[in-house]
Amino acid sequence: MLRARPFCPLRCLYVGRYGLPNSKWQKAYMSSVTQQPSPVDGGEAGPDGVRRRDFIHVATLSFAGVGGAAVAWPFINQMNPSADVRAMATVEVDLSAILPGQAIKTIWQSKPVFVRNLTPAEQGEANKVNVASLRDPQTLAQRTQEGHANWLVTLGVCTHLGCVPLGAAEGENRGDYGGYFCPCHGSHYDTAGRIRKGPAPSNLEVPAYAFKSPTLIEIG
Ligand code: FES
Repeated sequence: MLRARPFCPLRCLYVGRYGLPNSKWQKAYMSSVTQQPSPVDGGEAGPDGVRRRDFIHVATLSFAGVGGAAVAWPFINQMNPSADVRAMATVEVDLSAILPGQAIKTIWQSKPVFVRNLTPAEQGEANKVNVASLRDPQTLAQRTQEGHANWLVTLGVCTHLGCVPLGAAEGENRGDYGGYFCPCHGSHYDTAGRIRKGPAPSNLEVPAYAFKSPTLIEIG
């Protein structure tokens, strides 16, 4: 006698009593549709928590990263400073040829720098000023290095609008205070490079520098 068998609405297959497959091909089918992917096929993670799919993703991203870096390197590399620019990062100045009362102008990082050998009289002029009365209060000692009070190293850039002041070269106008004079709008700096008169808001900037010997400094 023919018995009715339950119908599985999900898989559209007849299965045997209690919903179990009862023929060879049904068992094969049920086995195929219920089989879980093995860890190595990219299903659940294996004991170490890594699936093959994870590995493939990581490997693909790694190759993409290496490839991207290889393509980008020439563009990144050309943004590095060239050898001549790196050489300009610091400048050495031989002080032995600068006599008391003289100054020289050099270039550091595309900016003019004044290096001045102050006479004892010029140092005295700078030291007798009441610092509290200055627009940008600084002593000469604060603007020079210990044991080298006669060496005044400043940027040759007016702090008003960036003109190059006069006074470094022989015979140039040194302004009302014997230091530097900016003719653009009339700023006067004293023998310590401090603003004394005119629109400049602050003293000439002292760049970073170091004595490599008593007669050699490195700026930068
Ligand atoms: S730029 Fe020097 S006074 Fe204006």
